[in-house]
Amino acid sequence: MAKELKITAITKEEQYIQLIPQIKALLSDENDAISNMANICAALKFGMSFFWVGFYLVKENQLVLGPFQGPVACTRIDFGKGVCGSAWQKKHVLIVPDVEQFSGHISCNSLSKSEIVIPLVDSNKKVIGVLDVDSEKLNNFDNIDERYLIEILSYLVI
Ligand code: SME
Repeated sequence: MAKELKITAITKEEQYIQLIPQIKALLSDENDAISNMANICAALKFGMSFFWVGFYLVKENQLVLGPFQGPVACTRIDFGKGVCGSAWQKKHVLIVPDVEQFSGHISCNSLSKSEIVIPLVDSNKKVIGVLDVDSEKLNNFDNIDERYLIEILSYLVI
């Protein structure tokens, strides 16, 4: 079955608004969380033109690289380390306008300039991973990304 995304919108918010029902439809056909994470990454990478989109999943007290789209990346991140490990520790979204200004930022690719990390929380409010989205542009993420990325993660059954 052919599955193609259609994005014609101009503004970032319009792009999310066009993309979200398409992601919802993709996810409704499948109940495997890893498959759905993989499709979320592809939809965000190609639908929103982000540099890197990926999940890190908690395994034995580390974040371990999961489904992603983009250049190769670091595979393991400790609790409280980097932007991802800090979002896990603090249990809240982190928006980093300039990665060079974030003390302890883990640079997997020198082209990444700004990022947003959203904790992935299960029904017991336990962080089971994070979604990390990176941009080649400084200051690329704001509360619009936060709102719509949280909405997209809410469609994942985990
Ligand atoms: N920059 C992240 C590491 C993951 S990569 O950007 C894909 C961090 O500081 O946690």
